[in-house]
Amino acid sequence: MSEQISRAAEISAEQRAREDDVVARVLASFDGCADPRRKELLRGVVTHLHAFLRDVRLTEEEWAAGIAFLTAVGHLTDDRRQEFILLSDTLGASMQTIAINNEAVGDATEATVFGPFFVEGSPEVGRGGDIAHGAAGEPCWVEGTVRDVDGRPVPGARIEVWEADDDGFYDVQYADDRTAARGHLFSDRDGSYRFWAITPTPYPIPHDGPVGQMLEATGRSPMRAAHLHLMVRAPGYRTLVTHIFVRGDELLASDAVFGVKESLVRDFERQGAGTPTPDGRSIDGTWSRTSFDIVLAPAPA
Ligand code: BEZ
Ligand code: FE
Repeated sequence: MSEQISRAAEISAEQRAREDDVVARVLASFDGCADPRRKELLRGVVTHLHAFLRDVRLTEEEWAAGIAFLTAVGHLTDDRRQEFILLSDTLGASMQTIAINNEAVGDATEATVFGPFFVEGSPEVGRGGDIAHGAAGEPCWVEGTVRDVDGRPVPGARIEVWEADDDGFYDVQYADDRTAARGHLFSDRDGSYRFWAITPTPYPIPHDGPVGQMLEATGRSPMRAAHLHLMVRAPGYRTLVTHIFVRGDELLASDAVFGVKESLVRDFERQGAGTPTPDGRSIDGTWSRTSFDIVLAPAPA
């Protein structure tokens, strides 16, 4: 920062006036924009972009490298791979947008990143059903309640669940058309829910593209802390997109997309082989269990 201040201090009044003039002319170019929100957004982008360029005294080589980087991000992006969202995620822009749009209301459950692996139309599993559908991993019993901020049960909430398998991949990352480690269920009349999944394990975000190069060049890891994705929807309530994280996971402090919130970390208690399961299911090896109570905020007016 002090380096930047000293560089800015070296700029003559004449130079500063020339740079101010560019900003003023670009801002004025939006004067005729009829849509006030569009005008606000574009003026904001220009103001902050020019402030950045001037603060860091961007060189022309750096400008060209930035353009080349964004071009590579665009070239990799298609309807299966969204490198721009990965860029937004790894720069914290996704989490910042989520923070802005999910204002704290009472003890409503905190939201976190959506990620690129949600699929609409997942199979419904009944009460206590298994969303694993054969995915590799240790069985995990998940239970909890869905309530409103006044503590009243929310029956019939649609709970979508999806997660990576033990090899670190979501079903959609495999070349076959499998559906595994995803499903949905509904909360009961008393707001309770329960299902089998697999114990979440850490995995890397896709890092074979320009975003991966950026992470490597900056000494950052592509690993996400182990998590289970949940999306909870119920009429009259704000849709909640969140995760359950695993207490004790070493990656909680360095999640590649800044998605970890302390309020979302839970114990996943490992159960020895032969421990009776809550629903009488017979399991040969170890299994785990966790509990996650969900509080939904009212839908925004
Ligand atoms: C995920 O958790 O599935 C995810 C989130 C952000 C980027 C990549 C993956
Ligand atoms: Fe994920």
